[in-house]
Amino acid sequence: MRPGLMVAVACCFLVGVVAAPSAAARDGELKVGYYDGKCRGVEGIVRLHVVRALAQDRRTGAALLRLIFHDCFVRGCDGSVLLDASDENPRPEKSAPVNIGLSAFDVLEEIKAAVEKRCPGVVSCADILVYAARDAGRILSDGRVDFDVPAGRLDGLVSSADEAQAEIPDPTLTLQQLIDNFARKNFTVEELVILSGAHSVGDGHCSSFAARLAAPPDQIAPAYRDLLNYKCSRGADPEVANNVRDEDLATVARFMPAFAGRVRAVSRLDNTYYLNNLDKVVNFNSDWQLLTGDEARGHVHEYADNGTLWDHDFADSLLKLSKLPMPAGSKGEIRNECSVVNRR
Ligand code: HEM
Ligand SMILES: *[C@@H]1O[C@H](CO)[C@@H](O)[C@H](O)[C@H]1NC(C)=O
Ligand SMILES: *[C@@H]1O[C@H](CO)[C@@H](O)[C@H](O)[C@H]1NC(C)=O
Repeated sequence: MRPGLMVAVACCFLVGVVAAPSAAARDGELKVGYYDGKCRGVEGIVRLHVVRALAQDRRTGAALLRLIFHDCFVRGCDGSVLLDASDENPRPEKSAPVNIGLSAFDVLEEIKAAVEKRCPGVVSCADILVYAARDAGRILSDGRVDFDVPAGRLDGLVSSADEAQAEIPDPTLTLQQLIDNFARKNFTVEELVILSGAHSVGDGHCSSFAARLAAPPDQIAPAYRDLLNYKCSRGADPEVANNVRDEDLATVARFMPAFAGRVRAVSRLDNTYYLNNLDKVVNFNSDWQLLTGDEARGHVHEYADNGTLWDHDFADSLLKLSKLPMPAGSKGEIRNECSVVNRR
């Protein structure tokens, strides 16, 4: 038995399951600096690991940003997306088709292990995930997207693929379906547009937008369609960049020479998503759908015109996302490992 596992087992007798009063917050409300007196320096540990992980592979930043959305939209921000399949729960959120491509679980597990060493049984995986996503956003935006994270979340005990499939929007949805999906979590049309801007970074599998490759040219720029067809012909279900800027230069130069001049820092979190969208150079049907209604399209123009405004509003929307509560009456715990519920 690994020493870490022995500690983990010993922990189970000490750490109980808490019936969450509200919002799954341990002491009622989430609080900035929640761990100040409980695990000093925890945010520094998270930051160090995120900086290191992104230095090794900048794409990990996009993976962490996507995780905050996929965790918080299902049962609130409770780390339910982090749970692996087990005998008791063979179909956790991770196994939902809509969760295709989620990654960076290893980075979070590594951070959790480092935090457990410093203060065992104190810091939830749910809080670590939000800290790490915030840090990733700050790094990918060169510090322009940043916010203080209120903490005190608990890790949930439930994780269901069916629930994830029902709550996370699918890229084939129409604008109205996207609006309704976000409204169920109390997010506005404007916030739908703001948060979709996360697609200025990262990758997607060709299967996530295959149907769009047959869309008419007023929905997808023909040159970009050619680029995607070329990329997607190379492998079973390859991943391609969400942002044409992040595509390899030779491919961009071949299919879209006008865009080759726009290429800048890879994986930069910024408002290029809105500029690309207006040019019909985005991957997912759900991205393009934002142009099909007056209000949403107005916001696309607004953020295409003002990158600073998007930086601020995106930070605000991520903060709001991070406060989504667990269903009332849910039980929570501080997991020993992020991928498994504690043994009892
Ligand atoms: C509005 C509804 C949304 C839809 C329909 C949607 C859909 C998708 C899809 C299909 C992928 C590619 C998955 C794959 O094929 O591997 C993806 C990737 C991604 N999404 Fe979204 N998304 C939405 C909103 C968001 C939000 C709110 C965020 C974060 C705030 C986000 C962040 C990301 C990121 C960063 C990636 C790239 C992940 C990586 O490279 O590892 N998305 N999204
Ligand atoms: C949305 O707001 C309503 C009314 O304030 C509240 O009852 C509900 O719990 C909220 N839903 C979520 C998911 O936060
Ligand atoms: C862009 O938004 C920022 C932040 O809200 C604001 O201060 C600035 O005046 C805006 N710039 C323009 C050109 O509208």
